[in-house]
Amino acid sequence: MAGLNDIRSKFLEFFREEGHEVVPSGPLVPNNDPTLLFTNAGMVPFKNVFTGQEARAYSRAASAQKCVRAGGKHNDLDNVGYTARHHTFFEMLGNFSFGDYFKAEAIEFAWNLITREFGLPKERLMATVFAEDDEAFDLWKKIAGLPDEKIIRIPTSDNFWSMGDTGPCGPCSEIFFDHGPKIPGGPPGSPDQDGDRFIEIWNLVFMQYEQHGDGSRTDLPRPSIDTGMGLERIAAVLQGTHDNYATDLMRALIVASAEASKSDPDGPHAVSHRVIADHLRSSSFLIADGVMPSNEGRGYVLRRIMRRAMRHAQLVGVAEPLMHRLVPALVRQMGDAYPELRRAEALVTETLKLEETRFRETLTRGLKLLDEEVEALGGKSVLPGEVAFKLYDTYGFPLDLTQDALRSKGLSVDQTGFDAAMAKQRQDARAAWAGSGEKATEAVWFELRDKVGATEFLGYESEVAEGKIVALLVDGQPVEKIKPGEDAAIVTNQTPFYGESGGQIGDTGIIFSADGAEFPVIDTVKKLGDMHVHLGKLSRGELGLGDIVEMKVDKALRDATRANHSATHLLHEALRRVLGEHVTQKGSMVGPERLRFDFSHPKPMTAEEIAEVESIVNGIIRQNSEVSTRLMTPEDAIAAGALALFGEKYGEEVRVLSMGLDGAKDNGTYSVELCGGTHVRRVGDIAIFKIVSESAVASGIRRIEALTGEGARRYLVEQERRLKEAAGALKIAPEDLPSRVVSLMEERKRLERELAEAKKKLALGGGAGGAAAGGPAGAPVEDLGGVKLIARKLEGVNPKDLRGLVDEGKRQVGSGIVVYVAISEDGKGAIAVGVTEDLASRYNAVDLVKAGAAAMGGKGGGGRPDMAQAGGPDAAKADQALDVVRAAVGELAGAA
Ligand code: ALA
Repeated sequence: MAGLNDIRSKFLEFFREEGHEVVPSGPLVPNNDPTLLFTNAGMVPFKNVFTGQEARAYSRAASAQKCVRAGGKHNDLDNVGYTARHHTFFEMLGNFSFGDYFKAEAIEFAWNLITREFGLPKERLMATVFAEDDEAFDLWKKIAGLPDEKIIRIPTSDNFWSMGDTGPCGPCSEIFFDHGPKIPGGPPGSPDQDGDRFIEIWNLVFMQYEQHGDGSRTDLPRPSIDTGMGLERIAAVLQGTHDNYATDLMRALIVASAEASKSDPDGPHAVSHRVIADHLRSSSFLIADGVMPSNEGRGYVLRRIMRRAMRHAQLVGVAEPLMHRLVPALVRQMGDAYPELRRAEALVTETLKLEETRFRETLTRGLKLLDEEVEALGGKSVLPGEVAFKLYDTYGFPLDLTQDALRSKGLSVDQTGFDAAMAKQRQDARAAWAGSGEKATEAVWFELRDKVGATEFLGYESEVAEGKIVALLVDGQPVEKIKPGEDAAIVTNQTPFYGESGGQIGDTGIIFSADGAEFPVIDTVKKLGDMHVHLGKLSRGELGLGDIVEMKVDKALRDATRANHSATHLLHEALRRVLGEHVTQKGSMVGPERLRFDFSHPKPMTAEEIAEVESIVNGIIRQNSEVSTRLMTPEDAIAAGALALFGEKYGEEVRVLSMGLDGAKDNGTYSVELCGGTHVRRVGDIAIFKIVSESAVASGIRRIEALTGEGARRYLVEQERRLKEAAGALKIAPEDLPSRVVSLMEERKRLERELAEAKKKLALGGGAGGAAAGGPAGAPVEDLGGVKLIARKLEGVNPKDLRGLVDEGKRQVGSGIVVYVAISEDGKGAIAVGVTEDLASRYNAVDLVKAGAAAMGGKGGGGRPDMAQAGGPDAAKADQALDVVRAAVGELAGAA
């Protein structure tokens, strides 16, 4: 008898031979539809192909698509375990025609497959058609040869299929299998059709319309075909059972659950094993597709599924967490068909284990409370809503878990009371917040958050997604519509745009609609922790509340930001290794251009330390290992060695980023940090890491700025260009540049020295009289009443050389007074006066220099009685200065 895996292969092979492209399953989180919680049918990945928005290279396709029906339009969660055919996770086999073939071929393919390939006896089969669809009725008659009474016209919406409130839809025709009179139940359309005897195995949808949000319906560009056959159902039929849970694959999981809990798969806990087997599949596949348990959106649906299974594990009586131990059995069954499951095995195992470990801590106490409350009901059949809310709020019991627990006792929950308790809690939280002193203008965000809830962030996995507009704001006020040229803020139910937080700047990109609206996003911010707000100006068209929009993050910028953010983590760890454990993050800024990292360290880093940090980080980059993300409690994350991120507030779970390999460490990981930012997939994506500056920001806090990837490459290219330019100017090879610069500097110093010497000589040697006049250094020696005086202007002499020159003059004159005025290039004058010792009792160099300087507009002057120096701003008065000194000397000489 064929197993599920063979049936799946056979189906795909059949359609491949009929000219269909076999397309791998799309993800469970649809990236092409913001209104869908999860992919709930085989056609979802092809939605835009049906409507003509997207073109593919083929017009016929077949797939085995992972589906989850839990929450939303198609929700089977509450029934799982109690019925033969409900699942939260199942596989849908389907063949699709995008304007290629239509009803006749679809019916023929289906009929041939099930009767010839699968060998189902014709007399056990029947079909339904939409009541008015005579064409389909006739085709079944002609192609399958079914008698009239086995082609049942269904007048209800049962034979009209639609994906959700919007999207492609059309009348359908279903194929039923008759399990025979031993099983109770009537044919489709009869009052007891819900029995297990007649089972729908295949739904052929004649896709013709697109349903729009405003209730209108338009024709698809071309009539198309969408079919869906639940793999578990057809397997049950082919394996001779009407119970999907008795098929080989489901049975293997049930047996695994029974063995791991040492209980009987078919005993009193049969329902629980079925719940566990089903929920194991949905939880594992959702986690593998990037959904993580949380308290919002998809993550909350996942949490509900997980916790429902975990309560059943508790019912079975296992003392230790159970779910994660079943993952190997699931991977054995399904890992070949879905390689993503095998790749995510470790993550799935860890996530299940964490959730179950934590949930168990409150599960026992919560169930005890529930038992007491049921006792207290004293025969009433409805549990008060406040009790269910308390279980939710305090013990983490999702409402459906409480309902499930009560179901076996024939009890229900007062849902209105539950909703009221929930609303009251929100109200209280809001009142508390309003009193916290935040700006009143921010109140609008709180109201919005209440109304529209958290934004689901899809940007860890992708840069493109559709979103539904849930709020529009102009000037901080909610509006219904925005027009071109208007600055606005847009909030959507889900988004790939990262909102600024944790040092990472907000994403930029574009939001646009199918009818031509364009809104370039210049920044994305986060309000109240989890509402992403897209800021920009509408450049074309119109956008209104409820519109479905395409959202595209600027991928190149985001990739660059990812690289910079991941490099920041590697830098942090490298600094700790090179400088010491005292290094802690004091702030950071990560954008597409560069990264900035502030950290505690008492002194500037040396060039060697910087080089070592760069070398360590680049070494890790070259390992090109995968970056792993896990969810943990903050305590567990810190225990695992995570470095907490500066300034972040943590919710119930934190994302833990691990990067790089380090064989010397216990956990083998180089860097572990708590972080909500977006990161590279492999460290090699960072490519290069280059520090461009290291500076002080405050006492004890240093700042590093660095580049990665293309930015770093361009920086290095520019550095090389400059090097070559410098070497080119010197006409030498770049590698000779350092030694040449040193020798040029030395040569320059020598030349400067020589030049100064030469200038001195030139200054003293030139001038009126010259050496012939007999004065020292060629200056004329005047005789003022018996006192010898040398007085001169010296062009181009450095003032600091004046003293030496004066000393020399004094030596040469033997007895006398020397006064020199140096005239510098900027027009200032410096004056120095020297008095030989024998005249020191009569002349004071300080008085003389002061008088001279004053003539050039200078004040003051200092030195000793035998040598003094001063300056004045106006060297044009140099001659007057000399005259003043000359006169003073002459006066005293005469007086003597
Ligand atoms: N989309 C159709 C279904 O899910 C085939 O039943």
